[in-house]
Amino acid sequence: MKVLVTGGTGYIGSHTVVELQHKGFDVVIADNLVNSYQETVDRIAKITGKLPIFEHIDLTEKHRVDQLFVKYGDIQHIIHFAALKAVGESVQQPLKYYYNNINSLVNILEAMQKYEVKNLVFSSSCTVYGQSEKLPVTETSPIKQATSPYGHTKQICEEIITNTIINSHFNAVLLRYFNPVGAHPSAIIGEFPIGEPNNLAPCITQTAIGKRPELKVFGNDYNTPDGTAIRDYIHVVDLAQSHVAALERFISEKNQQQLETYNIGTGKGFSVLEIIRSFEKVSGVKLKYKIVDRRPGDIEQIWADTTLANKKLKWKAQRDIDEMMLSAWKWEQTLNNTK
Ligand code: UD1
Repeated sequence: MKVLVTGGTGYIGSHTVVELQHKGFDVVIADNLVNSYQETVDRIAKITGKLPIFEHIDLTEKHRVDQLFVKYGDIQHIIHFAALKAVGESVQQPLKYYYNNINSLVNILEAMQKYEVKNLVFSSSCTVYGQSEKLPVTETSPIKQATSPYGHTKQICEEIITNTIINSHFNAVLLRYFNPVGAHPSAIIGEFPIGEPNNLAPCITQTAIGKRPELKVFGNDYNTPDGTAIRDYIHVVDLAQSHVAALERFISEKNQQQLETYNIGTGKGFSVLEIIRSFEKVSGVKLKYKIVDRRPGDIEQIWADTTLANKKLKWKAQRDIDEMMLSAWKWEQTLNNTK
């Protein structure tokens, strides 16, 4: 069965391609390589023994999207990752984010209608909840006003899919990811950002390996047990497997609604200091860090209620925080050795 994976050379995309290939799916990757490398395609093949098809395409170019579906007439499922995701940059250049993230989705949806593609998995984010009053958040928790244009594009895209599906033939799943971290256990693929990463895990590993002088911990005056902010970190391989579970639900026609939404996390929250302690334990490296002011736009705490995904998708995150940190550390060492 053929699956189109947009953004398939990216961080979550590449891990998902591996899991899809392990399950026997034929994968076509479409990516414009603005935040990833084509070399990742070969790295995927090194793990799975099978080279996925790769198409260098910017999905905002409608005629190119059209050509893609003409060329691969047997695409049955689409997993749509391709999007810009840097929160800070989206505040500086909002139109770049609205243009790219929304046009890409609209072109994909038009193609789904025109070429009668059956199923869509859309990568959304827990950012749509903002700071929820009730924790853990469930899929029916209120959607709060977005704190960044990036977050806003995720909300808009969810609404576009919701409105489009009413008079369409296809099924869709919105997966709201919590905080993906870690890398494939082989350390052959991992997070490969172009430019400076701002997320916690790469900042920790880059500090440990000496690429950064120290880690800044953004705030220790939150209303949490140790004062640092709490997130639901999820191993990227667990996250990748949730996409396969969503496709399998479509294929076995178990989906009860045309549009379903799931939280994809572990259901447990960890503070920044707990993450640092886990990293130090598994790596044996003492991390240099300092407490600084809160980062503007950050929320205090969030973690997921994953009951729905556990039940309906028959999927549950398996890997713990130590495994996340160890795999992130091994990957940082791989990156260091290949440059
Ligand atoms: C952000 C985005 C989220 C996106 C996710 C993964 C928002 C509000 N959040 O989540 O949508 O899915 O990235 O790309 O848009 N921290 C430090 N020092 C650092 C870096 C981070 O203390 O150098 C802290 C942060 O303050 C936060 C936690 O670590 O409390 C996690 O931060 P980060 O990895 O950037 O993810 P989020 O901001 O939660």
